[in-house]
Amino acid sequence: MRMYDLINKKKKGEALTKEEIEFMITGFTNGEIPDYQMSAMMMAICFQGMNDEETLNLTLAMRDSGDVLDLSAIEGIKVDKHSTGGVGDKTSLVLAPMVAALGIPVAKMSGRGLGHTGGTIDKLECFPGFSTSLTEEQFYQNVNQVKMAIMGQTANLAPADKKLYALRDVTATVDQLSLIASSIMSKKLAAGADAIVLDVKTGNGAFMKTEEDAVALAKEMVKIGKNAGKKMAAVITDMDQPLGNAVGNVLEVKEAILALNGLGPKDFMDVVYALGTQMVLFAEKAKTEEEARAMLEETIKNKTALDKFAEFVEAQGGEKRFVYQPEILPRAGIVMEVINTEEGYVSKIKAEEIGLASLVLGGGRATKDSKIDLTVGVLLNKKRGDKVKMGDVLATIFANDMEKAKEAYAKIVCAYEVQQEEPNPVPMIKGILK
Ligand code: URA
Repeated sequence: MRMYDLINKKKKGEALTKEEIEFMITGFTNGEIPDYQMSAMMMAICFQGMNDEETLNLTLAMRDSGDVLDLSAIEGIKVDKHSTGGVGDKTSLVLAPMVAALGIPVAKMSGRGLGHTGGTIDKLECFPGFSTSLTEEQFYQNVNQVKMAIMGQTANLAPADKKLYALRDVTATVDQLSLIASSIMSKKLAAGADAIVLDVKTGNGAFMKTEEDAVALAKEMVKIGKNAGKKMAAVITDMDQPLGNAVGNVLEVKEAILALNGLGPKDFMDVVYALGTQMVLFAEKAKTEEEARAMLEETIKNKTALDKFAEFVEAQGGEKRFVYQPEILPRAGIVMEVINTEEGYVSKIKAEEIGLASLVLGGGRATKDSKIDLTVGVLLNKKRGDKVKMGDVLATIFANDMEKAKEAYAKIVCAYEVQQEEPNPVPMIKGILK
């Protein structure tokens, strides 16, 4: 088999066989197929597309390029959740303990933040001593004992995707639907769960800016997962403004703890309940959506989710007291208020700009290897639909450097739009695909 012939075949719009895709992925991963040939193939796929069978075969070949977790040592139906990334998305910190409090095992691999979007691993590292570098054995043991564990992605998780994504990133071949879906799903399938609930975000702060594109990606990922034998659901959720009020690692952890105490912002809790409901149904703990939601609500009311979170933090090296007294978590030194200058209603808060403001403060990574300041970020005092007067505080900046705080201020002012008429409410949940 020659890579030249495969490129030529795809250029003419023909479908690649399973063996051809496996040859290509194995050769590329071990360095036998050079970047220039793989780039040509990626561009040919951008123009000609791939059918369902090719997309599945590409996903499975990338999944099998590295470690595939075997979660059979964990009792029960393992349900995973994945978000396509957003601003202020601390959903896993609340959802995982709620679900675990119902006895559903949560064995989760999470990532770090990049660019304007955040990552669960960075948030968890706000707890002094907390470790996400667990061995596979510790990971399984913690899930069996505590019902939840979260670890960083192993270095050898879908290495073919890691190499291919880096190549796509510099050859303008990221934005092809089958390539995006197979990239995300190769990592999810390697993480080994029985059922996967996807949170596909749409809007200004999301990877998929339009609802149409988000639905198309969700459909593609659900199809891949089902064809690979998994139970699948995708919830399309709003990311046109940041989720909840807090953006920045410690600030988001504090908001997550508030939510576990029953004080979570409504937009955030809408997303938590929508995803959680699907997880509880997949785990076969409830028969209807209403029943699943009521069970989840009860974990907040009776504080079992909060206690589960504290137990989880302790099991991974942190201290429970930070969960019960979040005010003792580290804080930023500078607090600056962003003042409103126009009477009316908040009609828009560009999530990407707020994410970039947090990045400027040092709370996000410009590149994969950047160091981050966990204490900085932005608290949104006003959200979309709120009535605002001149002089009201729109947002509060938490910083450790005055120049950076001023830069963030300018970005936040640009992010907010105020109009005279009251805007129509925007639903957080735009659809559920199964
Ligand atoms: N995220 C991924 O993991 N892969 C893509 O191709 C795009 C976004």
